[in-house]
Amino acid sequence: MSSDHKSQISALVSELNDHCYRYHVLGKPTISDAEYDRRYRELESLERDHPELIRADSPTQRVGGAPLSEFVTVKHRVPMLSLNNAMNEEEIQDFYGQLLRHLEDESAQIDFCVENKFDGVAITLTYENGVFVQGATRGDGFNGEDITVNLRTIRSIPLSLRWEQGKPPVLLEVRGEVLFLKTEFDALNVARVAAGEEPFANPRNAAAGSLRQLDPRITAARPLRFFAYGFGAVEGMAIPDSQYEGLKLIERCGFGVSPILAKVGGETGLLESYRSAMAGRFALPFEVDGVVLKVDSIALQERLGFRQRSPRWAIAAKFPPVEENTKLLNIEIQVGRTGALTPVAHLKPVRVGGVVVSRATLHNEDEIRRKGLKIGDTVVVRRQGDVIPAVIAPVLALRDGTETEFIFPNSCPECGSSIAKPEGDAVARCPNMRCPAQIEGRILHYASRGGADIEGLGDKIVELLLNEKLISGIADLYELKEAQLATLPGFGELSARNLCEAIAHSKTQPLHKFIFALGIRHVGERTALLLARSYPNIESLMRASVEELLEVKEIGEETAASIVSFFQDTEEVALVSRLLALGVTLTPPEQQGTALKGKSFVITGTLTSMGRKEAEGKVESLGGTISSSVSKKTSYVVVGSDPGSKATKARELGVTILDEEQFSEMVRK
Ligand code: IVH
Repeated sequence: MSSDHKSQISALVSELNDHCYRYHVLGKPTISDAEYDRRYRELESLERDHPELIRADSPTQRVGGAPLSEFVTVKHRVPMLSLNNAMNEEEIQDFYGQLLRHLEDESAQIDFCVENKFDGVAITLTYENGVFVQGATRGDGFNGEDITVNLRTIRSIPLSLRWEQGKPPVLLEVRGEVLFLKTEFDALNVARVAAGEEPFANPRNAAAGSLRQLDPRITAARPLRFFAYGFGAVEGMAIPDSQYEGLKLIERCGFGVSPILAKVGGETGLLESYRSAMAGRFALPFEVDGVVLKVDSIALQERLGFRQRSPRWAIAAKFPPVEENTKLLNIEIQVGRTGALTPVAHLKPVRVGGVVVSRATLHNEDEIRRKGLKIGDTVVVRRQGDVIPAVIAPVLALRDGTETEFIFPNSCPECGSSIAKPEGDAVARCPNMRCPAQIEGRILHYASRGGADIEGLGDKIVELLLNEKLISGIADLYELKEAQLATLPGFGELSARNLCEAIAHSKTQPLHKFIFALGIRHVGERTALLLARSYPNIESLMRASVEELLEVKEIGEETAASIVSFFQDTEEVALVSRLLALGVTLTPPEQQGTALKGKSFVITGTLTSMGRKEAEGKVESLGGTISSSVSKKTSYVVVGSDPGSKATKARELGVTILDEEQFSEMVRK
């Protein structure tokens, strides 16, 4: 009996570990979370009944045990050394030259393995007979701290090696780094601030802090990742004579390895891979500060050996820093098209990661207070992954008493109106719809690429047109005359004609672009497209109720309410009417096909996978028509749950009935 349970438990453990690998290492789960949880509970219950059969690599054993009182020191079997740095291309060339000199062969062609330089916490993992038994920090390179219980909680660290054939090795040490993905790091900091805790300064500190916890439950709650970069001690197994192949083997054992992984030849290969890794650095999901260049052949590595504390056969080629210090010269308030007041930092221009930064948004008043910034401060500026520069913090040690507190204004700097800041809202707003900054912002938004797409109508020109009183709002654009423009500073006949033509060109525009161009709060390009698919013309959208709008997929309460209130505003309605009267013509969203041309549909009952409006939009986008009552001419009646009498009528008349699944199939693009 017990052997039955034993094999049942073993099968569940391997199955769950396999899913864990697919989810946390490959990022490609093959079962739902709910199904995983079900299998997990099944295992838990078997283990509860047969505690003697609990395996060390059971996923239930990831978090367990009481908090530690201290970490025990462990001696590394093979020291964990450090790497020499190369700060630029010249130093990479020097590294190559030194290799050749050391080998006493100036014409040697050396192959290299190129990997990410991870910016996390170095650790070593020990597997005995394929089972994870110990994990430790690097420490001083010779002795580290035993943090096994914390490392067990990291789902991308396999509790047992994936092993394809025969017995796993007696001893295998895998080395690598634990780190946070950028998105998960940001989310962690948001949660910390919300809980009144100090945010972590960077992902590396956050990873180090998370691993240093004496209570493994805290570590378990942090979404840490592990990436492997090499072997430590190995017994009972031959490792390939190539760093590159070695990493491929580690990968097959169930570990994540460097996303940048290449074998390149010679000095040219090194320089090219360094440049291409630098160009792609911000696209990676975690922060990287360089690449590691390693002689690929292990035999050659052994010949080259070590010098003091770092190998001769490898170098960390660092990227230029993405954090710099500079002066916060001033904070200026920008008024956006929705009236939102955004404080913007004016910085003494500084190069950060190859780009000169002189301005950075500070988002809102709370953000300035939270960071404790003062005008005149020396501040740390960082270019984040998405290239948007951010002011991180003041350098308090460099204050000399001349710094001044920034006082958020009570009135709009553009029109003088009193600022409104609703309770619970982080953003202060200018309530005046006629505020020149809002008008300018709205015109620019209308003309933007996602909107009416008026080429050449940028901020300088809009400002000029407003100042010259040639326009006072969006609709006036369509009444501009070439002759009026031609006399303006910076304009000539040609540029006047071009602008007029671009404006005229925008008279015919797709409905979704127009909806976006109106600048309704919470309606971005995607929402506008979804709305246009559900509402064939602007008039029907203007009449829509909140309930109706909520039926459109992806539209929530806030957006629905914002749309309704926008069209309740008589000025907005007047704007739309005037634009239409001036000849603005809206084309229905691109027909995605004509598959349903000539077919008429009646929809009855509730559909579960899409809203009614969306279903209708899909039919129309494929050239079909929607009608509200069933007749002999109806092509299809789509029957959802709780259908009305229309379903019965369809049956009586012999009209083809589609259930939701058949319908979805039919309208799928
Ligand atoms: S190999 C004998 N490969 O950089 C040297 N190290 O200064 C073995 N690091 O703390 C190191 N990414 O944790 C190697 N792809 C990579 C790495 C990497 C980051 C860290 C390593 C060590 C430090 C060395």
